[in-house]
Parts: sequence; structure tokens; C-alpha cells
Amino acid sequence: MGVRLEPWTEDDLPLVQALLGDPVMMEHLGGSEAPEKIVERHGRYIGAPGVFKVTFEVVPAGWVGYWEHDWQGERIYEIGWSVLPAFQGRGIAAEATRLALEAARATDGPRAVHAFPTPDNGPSNAICRKCGFTFLGEVEFEFPKGVFGPSNDWYYDLSARSRGE
Ligand SMILES: CC(C)(COP(=O)(O)OP(=O)(O)OC[C@H]1O[C@@H](n2cnc3c(N)ncnc32)[C@H](O)[C@@H]1OP(=O)(O)O)[C@@H](O)C(=O)NCCC(=O)NCCS
Repeated sequence: MGVRLEPWTEDDLPLVQALLGDPVMMEHLGGSEAPEKIVERHGRYIGAPGVFKVTFEVVPAGWVGYWEHDWQGERIYEIGWSVLPAFQGRGIAAEATRLALEAARATDGPRAVHAFPTPDNGPSNAICRKCGFTFLGEVEFEFPKGVFGPSNDWYYDLSARSRGE
């Protein structure tokens, strides 16, 4: 399958604008992000380890990333993903997530990876299931900043197994 992870570059502002500026895409993420916030986020993504542009057959199709987060007294990697509507439903997000987990495994960072999709985000919960995450239950989660709501807590242990095992 032609899914690849590439470093985030200065040229990728239109991609993050399409992903985070679209109210449909952001339905489960508190609504579309303000234009200036998106520009600020784009700046943070450039050169950040763990943040990737997802390409499909060399064409930009989405975003996947992991970053460190304090969760229930533990330092974890949180992981998230987003794929443009035109590319959805082809397994691109699942494959990008598997590749991101491999990249996270190769770091010397936390071994616990958590994803926090809202309970009603069918495709995102399906990705967790397909990629071998374990469902831990529903939790109160803060996203965006200052807004708390129910999320599902999915866990993946980077020390337990690797792809193909
Ligand atoms: C979540 C998202 C990345 C999925 O992208 P995608 O490339 O379409 O995902 P995939 O094709 O890899 O997998 C989607 C899976 O969800 C399943 N699915 C789709 N709609 C579903 C629904 N309503 N309920 C349950 N499962 C559903 C699909 O059947 C597929 O599983 P399958 O391959 O076993 O059939 C995409 O919808 C998106 O970007 N959404 C907006 C941003 C977002 O919510 N990000 C997640 C934040 S936690």
C-alpha cells in the first residue's frame, strides 16, 4: 500500500488548514480551529519529532502524530490522526497509525501509547481496534484546552510486540 510518513515541512500549511479548518473533519474534536491557531500549530509541527505528513501515492492525504503527555501520573505518548475526506475509507489512517507506532517504538521515549477518541467517533475507535490497541474504558479528557468531555481511553504497549509478530 502506498502510505508513507514524511516529515512536516513549511509547504504543509494548506494540508493542516484543510484538516483542522473544516468543521466536518473537526466534528469530534470541538469544531474547526481558528485560522491563527492553525498557523501557530503548523509552525510547531515543522521539524517536530513524532509529527508526520501522511502521503498516499506521494499525494498529501493527512496527518499522524505522537507527543509526550502526562496521564494519570505517568508520562505517556498520546497519538492522533486525521485523513482528508477524499482519502478516507481506504485504510490510510490505520496504516499511517501502524507506521507511527513503529516510529514511536524506535525512540527512547515512553512505552505506553494512548489514544483518546470520543466514544461517538466510529472510524477513530475502529482504527484503535484494528491497530491492536486495548480498550481501557471511558474517561474525562481535556480537548481542546479547557474543555472536558468523555473520551475512550485506548492503550498500546510499545514494549510488548512489534509489527508482524
Ligand atoms: C478518523 C479518520 C482518520 C479515519 O480515516 P480513514 O483513512 O478513513 O480510516 P481507515 O480507512 O484506516 O479506517 C476506518 C475504519 O473505520 C470504520 N468505520 C467507518 N465509519 C465507521 C462508523 N461510523 N462506525 C464504526 N466504524 C466505522 C471503517 O469501516 C474502517 O474500518 P475497516 O477498515 O475495518 O472497514 C478520519 O475519519 C478523520 O480524519 N476524521 C476526522 C479527524 C478525527 O476525528 N481524528 C481522530 C481524532 S481521535
